Amino acid sequence: NKGKYEHYMQKEIHEQPESLTTTMRGRLIRGDSSKAKSVLLGGLKDHLKTIRRSRRIVFIGCGTSYNAALAARPILEELSGIPVSMEIASDLLDRQAPIYREDTAVFVSQSGETADTLLALQYALENGALCVGITNTVGSAIARHTHCGVHINAGCEIGVASTKAYTSQIAVMAMMALVIGDDTISSQARRNAIIDGLVDLPNKVREVLKLDQEMKNLAKLLIAEQSLLVFGRGYNYATALEGALKVKEVALMHSEGILAGEMKHGPLALVDENLPIVVIATRDGCFSKQQSVIQQLHARKGRLIVMCSKGDASSVCPSESCRVIEVPQVEDCLQPVINVIPLQAMLIDFNDPMPFDELVVVFLTYKSYVT
Ligand code: UD1
Ligand code: M6R
Repeated sequence: NKGKYEHYMQKEIHEQPESLTTTMRGRLIRGDSSKAKSVLLGGLKDHLKTIRRSRRIVFIGCGTSYNAALAARPILEELSGIPVSMEIASDLLDRQAPIYREDTAVFVSQSGETADTLLALQYALENGALCVGITNTVGSAIARHTHCGVHINAGCEIGVASTKAYTSQIAVMAMMALVIGDDTISSQARRNAIIDGLVDLPNKVREVLKLDQEMKNLAKLLIAEQSLLVFGRGYNYATALEGALKVKEVALMHSEGILAGEMKHGPLALVDENLPIVVIATRDGCFSKQQSVIQQLHARKGRLIVMCSKGDASSVCPSESCRVIEVPQVEDCLQPVINVIPLQAMLIDFNDPMPFDELVVVFLTYKSYVT
């Protein structure tokens, strides 16, 4: 039931405060002043020793699920100290890339049924890796065939364009980083800040959803364009890829997510006064590098739309012609959850492709009409 919403994607974008709350329910333990805060993922607890001993963690997925894993990669590396590599399922299979017994292979999939991800799971099982699933669908093939895993519990996602599953996947993988990482005294403050950030995340999502109308207005300006570039780096390289994927899938417009650190190595040649460019420059360790990217794009007369943390408009905007999207600031590793939402909301007036159940209804109606 779409309720007051026109289509499922719109409903699911607005459901994110609630879907994130269910994702985290029963999994975050808030300690009192004498006890550290902690995270419990029931599906992983018997396998943590093996995961911590693995030589490498390999994230495997397709599309939005791959992007969610990419967003979580830096925090997993930071807290676990284990090398983390990324594989698009079809590419892993095309290359028959090496997977070892000492690897932990993490399969990320909303549906739990994506053919390439399932084939990659089969391949990793044959190669003896510990296989972990992160899926939204209890009883799905990936949930059944992995050794262990975590259900993201985001609720059924009907819209073809994945939105609430993406944010819940990132939240689960941040929690996974917390349970795999060592609970050392030196990491305590950082861990507590992330847990507090997770607890407060639904409120911050509610806040960023208020940009809805502003993003619709921006969409009206962009709709006639041929292309949109999205620059991100660090935690938000994934946001750039995911934003561009959504623009392609929903607005049927060419869009490319670009790693800002690669700007000088080719993409800068595309920049002129006509091409709109979104630059993600929220506060984190990469902020000053993004400021200098903005300067260089401005020097090339790029049409800039900058996403920054609240209150930072004047520090990021090189001129009056630059548009700004100000978002609430959260702990750096959780910022991709917030930053993707205006990009999703920008597409809200574009109808999402018809979900399967609606296609069946249309087909049956058509059949009864012609017979
Ligand atoms: C589980 C229950 C939840 C209950 C909670 C109470 C299920 C589905 N979940 O949640 O209803 O409230 O205990 O303690 O019954 N798994 C995989 N691969 C995957 C995903 C999950 O093997 O891709 C496995 C997990 O290792 C685990 C089981 O499925 O054995 C359930 O996973 P999950 O729902 O994440 O566990 P809990 O959060 O503990
Ligand atoms: O169900 P999965 O997460 O395995 O699906 C993977 C991709 O097909 C999916 O994320 C796709 O990219 C989305 N529809 C994009 O919105």
